Amino acid sequence: MKLILVKDYQEMSKQAAEYVIEKLLQNPNMKLGLATGGTPIGTYKFLIEDHKRNGTSYQNVKSFNLDEYVGLSATNENSYHYYMNDVFFNHIDIKKKNVHIPSGDAPDIQKECEDYETVLTKHGRVDLQILGIGNNGHIGFNEPGTSFDSKTHIVKLAPSTIRANSRYFESMEEVPTRAVTMGISTIMQSKEILLLVSGESKSKALLKLWENEVDEYFPASVLKKHPAVTVIADEAAYAELRANDRAFA
Ligand code: F6R
Repeated sequence: MKLILVKDYQEMSKQAAEYVIEKLLQNPNMKLGLATGGTPIGTYKFLIEDHKRNGTSYQNVKSFNLDEYVGLSATNENSYHYYMNDVFFNHIDIKKKNVHIPSGDAPDIQKECEDYETVLTKHGRVDLQILGIGNNGHIGFNEPGTSFDSKTHIVKLAPSTIRANSRYFESMEEVPTRAVTMGISTIMQSKEILLLVSGESKSKALLKLWENEVDEYFPASVLKKHPAVTVIADEAAYAELRANDRAFA
């Protein structure tokens, strides 16, 4: 894993966007794996600005999101469909037919998981997957203990994840308790991974990612087995590593 250390959230977002734009210019037909949550919002803002200013086009890009809450329709303001349209897709020229997000309100969620995996397989490997990390090391919604062999599946969200995500809901009770997520092995199929880590609340997770053995109880540790992972972390996220005297190039 390559670590790029930057000053703050703004700088992380800018560098991540530049990373994506460079790949996009090299391959305008790229398959782009996307994440939701607080971390990538700044990156999407920079990408939108670039699209408006420089005309970087997403006409031929195919996007694949990591996850969606079970029970929320695409029009629900808390769904990841809504989030993606709101913070990114509505502001660029991506074709709606090229956008892929698991459906949280499919009548048969198990079948939805299988269908999503089939769609991913049919399109071939994702070229660049953007990831965030949970405080407990989750990637996508693969909570600690998820098999590294997992494909797209239904998960029961960990209490810490429900708590962390309740900031977007009116009350804790409204936070869905289940989600559909790409599995660990699905994520590991990506040709390249860009992991974004920002803020003090993530500094323990970043320390564990660096220090811990590869272990299903810290899902992000699997990334150490991937040949092309770049981590962009800001100073606040790096605090625990610094305190532990870990130096990086
Ligand atoms: C989002 C996702 C999650 C988040 C993680 C961090 O699609 O799959 O793994 O990346 O929960 O969330 P934030 O960025 O809100 O701290």
